[in-house]
Amino acid sequence: MENVRPETMKRINTPELANAFIEEQVAALRAQIGDKKVLLALSGGVDSSVVAALLIKAVGKQLTCVHVNHGLLRKGEPEQVIKVFRDQMDANLIYVDAVDRFLDKLAGVSDPETKRKVIGKEFIDVFAEEAKKLDGIKFLGQGTIYPDILESKGVKAHHNVGGLPEDLNFELVEPVKLLYKDEVRMVGKALDLPDNMVYRQPFPGPGLGVRCVGAITRDRLEAVRESDAILREEFAKNGLEGKVWQYFTIVPDFKSTGILDGKRTFEWPVVIRAVNSVDATAASIEQIPYELLLCITDRILAEVKGVNRVLYDLSPKPVATIEWE
Ligand code: XMP
Repeated sequence: MENVRPETMKRINTPELANAFIEEQVAALRAQIGDKKVLLALSGGVDSSVVAALLIKAVGKQLTCVHVNHGLLRKGEPEQVIKVFRDQMDANLIYVDAVDRFLDKLAGVSDPETKRKVIGKEFIDVFAEEAKKLDGIKFLGQGTIYPDILESKGVKAHHNVGGLPEDLNFELVEPVKLLYKDEVRMVGKALDLPDNMVYRQPFPGPGLGVRCVGAITRDRLEAVRESDAILREEFAKNGLEGKVWQYFTIVPDFKSTGILDGKRTFEWPVVIRAVNSVDATAASIEQIPYELLLCITDRILAEVKGVNRVLYDLSPKPVATIEWE
């Protein structure tokens, strides 16, 4: 497949067109792969999930998925990947618990770009180690989509490092590389992937790592994960899921005083960020109903350990960026 979308290619905007694409791709994947084996890094994001579902449909157990839990995923994500792909779709799925390994490497690293590099490099290393344990893999599946090709010369942006080591000499299988994001979602829906996988908000490759500002510690990372889960749950309950482009919490690396049961405390703040954007180059602030903000604040203060303050970030991009680092 060429890396240029033909002008004649129809925009996939109906379930019928999505089904036709799936049928065509399944046939093409079977022809390309034959009886050989394929490996795929499955993050649980929409792109890799759609590629996994297409490959499962095309070649079943010839596909091995590797899900690396780097400890920076949102609450419930690794469990959902296992449930959907191993339990429901009967895929070969290798789950790698690399939490300690990543957090040990990240200990004391506070520079944002160094953090990204450590996460990206460690991810490639873990994945390559898993790949070397497997025999007879010929192909590597990738969730490259058309904007990746247009923007970053075909390298999936979230890897942030060069790619796999050269001794892993795989041929690439990239069935959605000519599709735009909305088309990938349409195909995911037609493949019966759960809505919260298909329509999920953008999530950076370094995950919660860039929201645990500065050097990551396990306790502050847990505060990010728990507050993010509360925010997502409340947004879903109040009909904001799928309406707000991106929303999450940040826990900066500083403390302030508070008071609980007559005693002074010294704990972290949680910052809530909810923005609207088209392509992440600019973002405006979502006007969350005040009542909802108060309810989320109460829950975070009551349920998240180590936190005594909740703030709402009102800064658009520019001048701020969407993430805090
Ligand atoms: P900023 O913070 O630059 O973010 O306004 C723009 C969009 O990019 C996401 N983002 C990343 N995605 N790896 C990624 O895959 C990264 O290192 C990274 N940093 C930011 C961010 O979540 C937002 O959607």
